[in-house]
Amino acid sequence: MDILHTLSALRHRLAQESTVALVPTMGYLHDGHMDLVHRAQLHAPCVVTSIFVNPLQFGPQEDFSRYPRSLAEDCARLKQAGCSVVFAPSENEMYPEPQSVTVDPSPLQNELEGAFRPGHFRGVATVVLKLFHMVQPQVAIFGKKDYQQTLILRTMVRQLALPVTLLAAETVRAPDGLALSSRNRYLSQAERQRAPELYQALEAVAEALKQGKTPQESLKRGQLDSTCWSTDYMAVRRAQDLSEPSPADRSLVVLGAARLGGTRLIDNLEVLL
Ligand code: PAJ
Repeated sequence: MDILHTLSALRHRLAQESTVALVPTMGYLHDGHMDLVHRAQLHAPCVVTSIFVNPLQFGPQEDFSRYPRSLAEDCARLKQAGCSVVFAPSENEMYPEPQSVTVDPSPLQNELEGAFRPGHFRGVATVVLKLFHMVQPQVAIFGKKDYQQTLILRTMVRQLALPVTLLAAETVRAPDGLALSSRNRYLSQAERQRAPELYQALEAVAEALKQGKTPQESLKRGQLDSTCWSTDYMAVRRAQDLSEPSPADRSLVVLGAARLGGTRLIDNLEVLL
């Protein structure tokens, strides 16, 4: 496995490859990331995993500087998994000059996550488009854990006619239901015990929807205990485009974001009626 830090080394290494699959990450890899790598291997002989904590997608009050980083361990895991290339550029390699050219993704960028993280999806779309140009993959794999992110990137690929097939993988969870996330490491032991309540809340909403309750009624079933949780949003949307659902819609997704102590968790659950 090659560990590359510069664009020129990456281009040189990939020049001979005909089919490349890309797994973009911010590192501190867990089994959810590794599942994306394994899926990528089914689609291309050469799998590139990028590891870059992208400053452009963090707000000024967010956790960019304390975001967990573990490049050596990440590389060891990726090597073991049979990944071909790790691309881990420095901030200066990715942004040698201030990034004044950015991607303004669909209006969805201002809703749900976007309402609480202004500019976040602009930062995500910009770095992902840049990674696509750097790696030039035929296939790129993202997780449904970040449902809105994957949808926004899918729309970008479609509307900009990018020559890449975007695949979305199911969320990998701990046995108690908590979605794996690099940010779970911020949780104290007591918080970790409570953390599955977010997924349980999504399940309760999904159950109510399946019983025929309206989204509004169903959301009442998904309220988190406000003594420990501070909920940013809990919403029922159309799975296809995250617009507000109409009563005729059968394919829905329940999305939630809430803070437990100092840690912000997000999760979602698709519901087929
Ligand atoms: P990061 O949070 O490191 O996630 C990298 C990829 O792993 C994303 O596609 C995310 O949806 C997926 N992922 C995270 N947790 C998962 C889980 N439990 N199960 C399945 N997939 C999971 O998302 C980002 O980084 C960044 O925004 C990025 C796309 C790399 C752009 O900077």
